[in-house]
Amino acid sequence: QSRSDALPFEQTLATLHSLLPEKLRRPHVGIVCGSGLHTLAAAIRDVVEVPYATLPGFGKSTVPGHKSSLAFGLIGPGEGVPVVAMLGRLHPYEGHKLSAVVYPIRVMARLGIRNLIITNAAGALNPDIDVGTIVVIQDHLAFPNLTGMNPLLGPQLDPKYPRFLALSSAYSVSLRRYAFLAAHKLQLGLDALAEGVYAWVSGPTYETPAEGRMLRNAGADVVGMSTIPEVVAGKEEGLEVLVLSLVTNKVVIPTRYRSIREEVEAELAGKPVVRQDEPQVSHEEVLLIGKQKAEVMKSLVEKIVELIASE
Ligand code: 6GU
Repeated sequence: QSRSDALPFEQTLATLHSLLPEKLRRPHVGIVCGSGLHTLAAAIRDVVEVPYATLPGFGKSTVPGHKSSLAFGLIGPGEGVPVVAMLGRLHPYEGHKLSAVVYPIRVMARLGIRNLIITNAAGALNPDIDVGTIVVIQDHLAFPNLTGMNPLLGPQLDPKYPRFLALSSAYSVSLRRYAFLAAHKLQLGLDALAEGVYAWVSGPTYETPAEGRMLRNAGADVVGMSTIPEVVAGKEEGLEVLVLSLVTNKVVIPTRYRSIREEVEAELAGKPVVRQDEPQVSHEEVLLIGKQKAEVMKSLVEKIVELIASE
């Protein structure tokens, strides 16, 4: 038995073939738009949007700020580069199986993409990374992958794939280089981008302070609930992978806990007690920053696609 038995690649590809004009049928680059970032689609012209609901094997994104369609079209001057963008992604925390989460990636690979640009919203664990920064991901830390939630668990999808996939160079050096060159060409300056390690957690809960501290101590710079399954499947498919994380909030990691014992002690001694509420992350905040930075993310992705096309 192979895993591909359950995956309706042929029907999905036939449906797309029937819906797309000739010039859009073989995209070079796949793009995944994260929370609040589906406006990336504005970079694409001659768009044909295909709802996930029309595609066999595609789940539906249930997260506010995510659409559920594939956008096919062209990016860049002249004839343009054919691309396909996922407007809205699927997450394990929505109840989607990992095989469903990565199915669109595998479909895009079978359409012919060689490069995959994944965007997401993330929280900063590294105190030097400010809200609004776009982080070029250089490595990841994925406890779920190490503990039984790996998208490649199970029989091999195709015997041509390695049984044990190396992830020592998961993040394409040439695409990361293009990201910085794009920032330069757009006159944003190299400082507009940071570099760092992404920690994947399953969500849907945000981290506790202790968990945030652990991830930071383990070497992560940002944390989020998506992307890594897609990166892993993209690597298995042989794609060049780039991840751009938009920092929408800082993860507050207290160096010292508020001591209720000390507060009660002060209270009993008749001393004034200063109470501080811990700041809390919200999905609304995440979407707002996404909206504010969507334009920059859009120009970057556009420019990176042009650089890929000029190879
Ligand atoms: Cl703070 N944590 C996680 N897990 N995902 C996020 C986030 C934080 N901010 C945006 N996405």
